[in-house]
Amino acid sequence: MIPTLPDLAADLDADLDADPSVAEMLAARPHLRMDPFDGLMLEQVKLAAIADALGTPVWVTGAGTLRARYRRLAAAMVEAGLDVHIHFAMKANDHLAVLRVLAALGAGADVVSGGELRRALQAGIAPARIVFSGVGKTDSELALAVSLGVGQINVESAEELAGLSAIAAAQGRVASIALRVNPDIDAGTHAKISTGRAGDKFGVAYHRAAALYAEAASLPGIRPVGFAVHIGSQIADPAPFRRAFARIADLVQAVREAGHAVSMVDCGGGLGIGYRHETEGSPRALANAIRVTLGGLGVRLAIEPGRWLVAPAGLLLSRVVRVKQEIGAPPFVVLDSAMNDLLRPSLYDSWHGVVPLSASDAAGPVAPAHLVGPVCETGDTLARDRMLPLLREQARVAILDTGAYGAVMSSTYNARPLAAQALVDGERWSVIRARQPVERLWEGEIVPDWLT
Ligand code: LLP
Repeated sequence: MIPTLPDLAADLDADLDADPSVAEMLAARPHLRMDPFDGLMLEQVKLAAIADALGTPVWVTGAGTLRARYRRLAAAMVEAGLDVHIHFAMKANDHLAVLRVLAALGAGADVVSGGELRRALQAGIAPARIVFSGVGKTDSELALAVSLGVGQINVESAEELAGLSAIAAAQGRVASIALRVNPDIDAGTHAKISTGRAGDKFGVAYHRAAALYAEAASLPGIRPVGFAVHIGSQIADPAPFRRAFARIADLVQAVREAGHAVSMVDCGGGLGIGYRHETEGSPRALANAIRVTLGGLGVRLAIEPGRWLVAPAGLLLSRVVRVKQEIGAPPFVVLDSAMNDLLRPSLYDSWHGVVPLSASDAAGPVAPAHLVGPVCETGDTLARDRMLPLLREQARVAILDTGAYGAVMSSTYNARPLAAQALVDGERWSVIRARQPVERLWEGEIVPDWLT
């Protein structure tokens, strides 16, 4: 039978809907390679060797991959003729070694808590290279930031501005602030990580921003330097970025016309990556969106990328604990990693590639399977109906693109200790966090003596 056009279109849709194969996933990730003997390699390191030495689950980050991505992002800004300061959004991955790798390339940090601030300092990032964001900074966090001389505090409300003014004035210091503006732009991403729509908790409402900026200029202890905007995360399409930046450009002009100086714009983070079939957010397209909207204003520019820099550089290695065969349905492949390790699939229904560590496992025929963790919730599911090569007990897999919002979002739910971490750099690798000993789980807990 000759296929009709609608048939062909349906086939095409089915292809796009199908999960990418192991070969396709590896082709899209130049830092990964399947060696016929050594199996899956990150940079020049055999991942099975790390799993042998440290056990599973274990997070692995590629320092060379991270550097290459940082350089690509920085180069795109330079090629667009822009001088853009890169503040790594360390909420994505706050390990000291990761911060060191990025800081050595010139990155500053975007922090959202006193803890992140202290971590950034611990990693050797100078206070002047730190931006402090967040909707609920406490008085003591603000006081710490002011006393350290943090480069910029992104203020999210009139209430925070008043509090910060009092804190800085009491210290006899002046805090440089940017007003975070809510531009009311839908970034078209997952609702839980969308931040720039009116009604989201972030930033000052657009129509109030100019007046609040003027007020800031009159407050003791405050030096307003500009505006910040961050519309959400995992955004590939440059159009919402352009719309948001254009609104900020209008605001800069309006505020300048009212006689106030504006010397910087912080364009936030949000650039997405390709987890499944999504096209990766383009640094060039982002640079272009910044250039056409803000490039002519004579302001210092900054971005706060997290995911784009680190997500593809990280993997979670895991082992099959059990294969539970079902009659007339795909088997449940139970891994030794779970939602307490990698929360993203449970929280956002996110898709992560899964690749066996062994070349022979990876080469076999594929069949549907459910990949789950051992935690006692149905939500502890990494993938349903995923086409996977046959995985037997003890087989090991890498869960891809988990370098951002992976280890940082782990918990010890179900009394599962935090996993080990390793850093690969070209041919060498080191453990960068030992697996948490189980006794640590109850360290610090106190049983009142009236119970004993
Ligand atoms: N700047 C601000 C003010 C932010 O709130 C964020 C992320 C970033 C920068 C960095 O955004 P990125 O470049 O990484 O998209 N846990 C979620 C993502 C939450 C993002 C929160 N804010 C996930 O796993 O998808």
